[in-house]
Amino acid sequence: MPADPAELLALAESAARVAGSLLVDGRPTRLDVTTKTTPTDVVTQMDTAAERAVIEALLGARPGDGVLGEEGDEVPSRTGVRWIVDPIDGTVNYLYGIPQYAVSIAAEADGQVVAGVVHDPEREETFTATKGGGARLNGRAVRCSAVTDLSQALVATGFGYDSRRRAAQGRVVAHVLPAVRDIRRMGAAALDLAAVACGRVDAFYERGLSPWDLAAGGLIAAEAGARVGGLAGRPAGPDLVVAAPPGLFEQLAGRLGALGADRE
Ligand code: IPD
Ligand code: CA
Repeated sequence: MPADPAELLALAESAARVAGSLLVDGRPTRLDVTTKTTPTDVVTQMDTAAERAVIEALLGARPGDGVLGEEGDEVPSRTGVRWIVDPIDGTVNYLYGIPQYAVSIAAEADGQVVAGVVHDPEREETFTATKGGGARLNGRAVRCSAVTDLSQALVATGFGYDSRRRAAQGRVVAHVLPAVRDIRRMGAAALDLAAVACGRVDAFYERGLSPWDLAAGGLIAAEAGARVGGLAGRPAGPDLVVAAPPGLFEQLAGRLGALGADRE
C-alpha cells in the first residue's frame, strides 16, 4: 500500500519537534566545532545529535524506510519511502546564537517529495506541506506573494562555503541588487523557501543547494503557489534553485540566466 503523505508529515513533524527541543533546550555552553567541505563549512555536536534524534524517531516508527541525512546518515529504503534530513539548516547562525535556523525533513515516496516540514524552534513556527494538499504555517494555510514586478520584489538568496563559488555568487548578486527592491541573506535556505511560501519575501534563488536544503522547503513553497525550478525549464537542483510567484519567475530566472548564475 502506498504511504499516506499526511501520515508521513505527522511523523516528520513530531521528529522535527524532538530535534528542535534538543537544539534549544540541550544547547551546551560550548559547542564543539569541526569543518566539512571548507574551513567555513562547520558542523557541531548538535548537528549530529539532532540528526540521530530525527532518524531514531523516523525509523523507530517506520523501520524499513531509507534516509539521506546531511551529517552522513544514509540508509537504503525497503519501502519506497526515503527521508531527507537537515538537522540544522543554518548551522552558522546556530553557532553564533542567531535565532534563524530550522530542522528540515522531507519524505520522498518512489523518488518524489510528498511531504515536508521546516520547523523553526526559536520562533515556534512550523511550516508544513503535502503534495497537492497545500502549505501551512502552524496549521494555517499560507500563500506566496502576488508580486509581478521584479523591481518591487524582495529577494532572498544565499552563498555556498567555497570561496571560488562565492566570488561568482557575489558577481551575480551585484547585478541582481540594482534590479530588485532589496536582497536578504538570512542564512538558512529551508527558511528562505518557507519565507517565499508565506510572502515574507517575494522570491529566492541560490546555486549549490543540496537535497536536504531544498526538499522540504521546495515542496512548501510550491504548495503555497510559488513556481520552483531551475533555468530553461530544468527542475530545481544543485545548479540553481529559483522560487518565485508565477508572474515573477521568468523575470528573475531570465536575469539569472543572463548572468550565468547556474555556472561556476
Ligand atoms: C546552508 C544554509 C545557507 C545556504 C547554504 C547552505 P547549512 O545550510 O542553508 O543559507 O546559503 O548554501 O549550505 O550548512 O546551514 O545546513
Ligand atoms: Ca545543516
